[in-house]
Amino acid sequence: MMKHYLGLSEYHLRQKQQEYPVNYEPEKLINAHLLVCGMSGTGKSYQSRQLLGSAVGAGIEVDVFDVHDELDGIAGAKACRYSQATGYGYNPLALSPDPHTGGPARQAEYLLGLVRESAQLGIRQDMVLRNLILDTYQLAGIYPDNPATWQRDNITEAGRRQLREARNWVALKQYYPTLDDLKDYGRRKLIALTLGGDNPCITALEQLTRHYKRLSNLQGKYAKASGDGDLDKLGKQIATSKEHCTGSYTTFIEAMQTGRELDDLLKYDSADTLASVLQRLELLNSAGIFRANPPPFGSALARVHQIKSLASEQQTLFVKLRLQAIFERHKQAGATRSGTELRHVIFLDEAHKFFRKDNDDIINVVAREARKFGIGLWCASQNPTDFPDSFLTNVGATIILGLHESHRQMAASKLGISRETLKYIRPKQAMAVQLRRDGLASPPFGNVVVG
Ligand SMILES: Nc1ncnc2c1ncn2[C@@H]1O[C@H](COP(=O)(O)OP(=O)(O)O)[C@@H](O)[C@H]1O
Ligand SMILES: [Mg+2]
Repeated sequence: MMKHYLGLSEYHLRQKQQEYPVNYEPEKLINAHLLVCGMSGTGKSYQSRQLLGSAVGAGIEVDVFDVHDELDGIAGAKACRYSQATGYGYNPLALSPDPHTGGPARQAEYLLGLVRESAQLGIRQDMVLRNLILDTYQLAGIYPDNPATWQRDNITEAGRRQLREARNWVALKQYYPTLDDLKDYGRRKLIALTLGGDNPCITALEQLTRHYKRLSNLQGKYAKASGDGDLDKLGKQIATSKEHCTGSYTTFIEAMQTGRELDDLLKYDSADTLASVLQRLELLNSAGIFRANPPPFGSALARVHQIKSLASEQQTLFVKLRLQAIFERHKQAGATRSGTELRHVIFLDEAHKFFRKDNDDIINVVAREARKFGIGLWCASQNPTDFPDSFLTNVGATIILGLHESHRQMAASKLGISRETLKYIRPKQAMAVQLRRDGLASPPFGNVVVG
């Protein structure tokens, strides 16, 4: 059980001359979520490191998302930096082998969701990307209707390169395909669509489509034409156009080899659509967070993800992905026996920027459902009012280290903290703490002399 000493109760000290320790014991509260608020310089990083150190000391697994490079000094934790230079990332095509919740079809939806978040996707692009993902899995022998094929190992970029150079396709099949495989496959399809390439059938079909468009066009004009001269001229053009259509149709049928040429064409719509989908994938991975190079955390139970080098949207995407992965893992492990046990702390610095209004957003799902799976969401931020009310009114513990004057009024009304308690806060000396114990709806904030 984690028990972290915060300091002495100011009320007991002043009114009763008693030393009454205030501890943070997440398992005794309504949940293990925590909010640490303070403007710059009030000790947010300092207090966060202390709290995280206590969690690590209690054997709790910890993932810290560090946007300022300030939290790597936690005792017992290993830090890894994500950047173009280090190339660390997570393969988005790695699957959950759970027959009910995992598999390629679900992963395809998940990936589509990610892409949609960073860029709009039209209906055609959506379809093309889904087909691209499912075909890439299929090429690797992973099938939606066969969970026995969903279990593979994770490969690194270097490992993939080596096996490909050695043309060791058999060994490659032991691993999940990567984003590079997806892009390679897409590029091959794009070449086939653009050049017809090795595929004269597609060239013929494209020609047929062009001829047919012209025919329809002419027929439309014919219907509207009135003068005899025009009708005569158009009639002749239509006849020629029909001949062209028949000719290219014949070529198309003759060029057909596998009979699946049309399927491919339908699946991948057009070279333009496919090219735009490949561009979206490129954009999605611009910071490299989807590269198949798991960071070398080894067996460390406490991991500090240094994401300062990533652009803001990439940070959000990254954090969501990790939240999702952590949440899925614990869901699979099942509810904790006690229903209150804390197994895993997720710490978000500048946490307000990761919150979204959408109830289905992973951060809200974690905030709502994490407790029974033993997850605590710890959030640090400058300003408490940037969080949704649903979080503020349901967080197990709130610690205020010092608010900027411009935030005080709002904070007081949103958090229900008294002016007195707010006024007594002195950065690095006295803070305000609210602990929501099971059964107590909204206990008042109390001042705590920093220990
Ligand atoms: N309780 C404390 N006791 C001693 N030094 C502290 C305490 N809290 C913060 N500090 C120091 O004050 C400085 C600012 O704290 P920091 O945690 O970086 O603030 P923030 O993250 O809110 O900007 C740091 O040098 C830190 O070591
Ligand atoms: Mg800080």
